Amino acid sequence: MSEQRPFLLGILGSGKGSNAAAIADACAAGIIPARVALVLSDVQDAGILAQARARGLPARFIPPGKFRTKLDEAAEAAFLDALRQAEVDLVVLAGFMRILKGEFLRAFAHRVVNIHPALLPAFPGLEAWKQALDYGAKMTGVTVHFVDQGIDTGPIITQETVPILSGDTPESLHARIQEVERKIYPAVIAALACGEIRVQGRQTIFTKPLLPH
Ligand code: GAR
Repeated sequence: MSEQRPFLLGILGSGKGSNAAAIADACAAGIIPARVALVLSDVQDAGILAQARARGLPARFIPPGKFRTKLDEAAEAAFLDALRQAEVDLVVLAGFMRILKGEFLRAFAHRVVNIHPALLPAFPGLEAWKQALDYGAKMTGVTVHFVDQGIDTGPIITQETVPILSGDTPESLHARIQEVERKIYPAVIAALACGEIRVQGRQTIFTKPLLPH
């Protein structure tokens, strides 16, 4: 009997890698019917690379080039090459702090997802938990969305709220947001791996409800 080819994930991140770890562990446990084919980072000593290597997953640092907020042309081509060579089906941004552009997004049209630590369209960009706290919001949350050319503007897949408590610090709020992230992101990726989410313009359509998470 011929084995079916697994659904392959490429995870990109710049930080400590708690989302990547949760996703890799959910794959290993069979909760996500997929395999992590490759983990890439633009930061040489990022925790995400250590998290991947500790799990025996291929992990690579690719120098981002001369810009601060995006990859330069050669770097973007190197990221794209690595993901293509690994035959990745879905690109998962997990704390990847650089904007991806034209060619990359065309190559993986509707196949790049991101998790953002706020309820978009509120508080796009950096340190969204801190933005929400400084603004005096009473509620923030987590958004998982497809990636388009804008900053945190692509079609929303799902959102979950997180209350802001009196006495919250940026650190305590981010920690509570991250607890939600570690549940919601694996559930969305499982649905994507099963082909249960379609995009129509800005709308995302679920053919089955998300797994309880
Ligand atoms: C997560 O909170 C993620 O939502 C955020 O970076 C953190 C990465 O944590 N992403 C953004 O702010 C993107 N705009 P991790 O490295 O532990 O997964």
